[in-house]
Amino acid sequence: MTSFAILLSGRGSNMEALAEAVQSKKLSGRIAFVASDNPEAAGLRRAAELGLRTAVLPYAEGKKRGEEELRELCRLHGAEWIILAGFLSILSPEFVRSFRSRIVNIHPSLLPSFPGKHGIEDAWRRGVKITGVTVHLVDEGVDTGPILAQQAVEILPGETLESLEERIHRAEHSLYGKTLSLLFAGKGLTERC
Ligand code: GRF
Repeated sequence: MTSFAILLSGRGSNMEALAEAVQSKKLSGRIAFVASDNPEAAGLRRAAELGLRTAVLPYAEGKKRGEEELRELCRLHGAEWIILAGFLSILSPEFVRSFRSRIVNIHPSLLPSFPGKHGIEDAWRRGVKITGVTVHLVDEGVDTGPILAQQAVEILPGETLESLEERIHRAEHSLYGKTLSLLFAGKGLTERC
């Protein structure tokens, strides 16, 4: 069974959706551990409540130390894939190269539109009519890796940012598990991967 680590920095709703997908066997895999660069992350507490192994990465001592620890945890607990779920630190090019095509991210817009930290709000402010969610492999850039799956979300007339955020997160929670399920089964990879 495919073993994966989840990295997060915040509330962890995507982590929770993945844990639920594993629990209900919609996603065939094992969560090796959940780790964060932020000791205060609500998602880390939630993961512990769910009975998952958790760890704080020592990013406070620098990115190098944080990544060394991440590498060691993956080795120790047999994580073959690293799944980013709202992880705010940018992984170094060296780290990405050593885990080439085995790190996945979810982004709340239709990439390449609206990369960066505020994908939902940027699309909403720009007044686009359709935005969405992207699951992609991580490369050395920010939100630039090969796209695995996308789901469109229409921005409704007069929609508030809060309502759009909620609908985007709902789309994320279903798309991430489905995409990882295909990926772990050796499907869903494009020839670019
Ligand atoms: C999600 O919108 C994800 O696309 C982005 O960060 C957010 C994390 O949300 N990369 P959560 O912590 O999973 O609730």
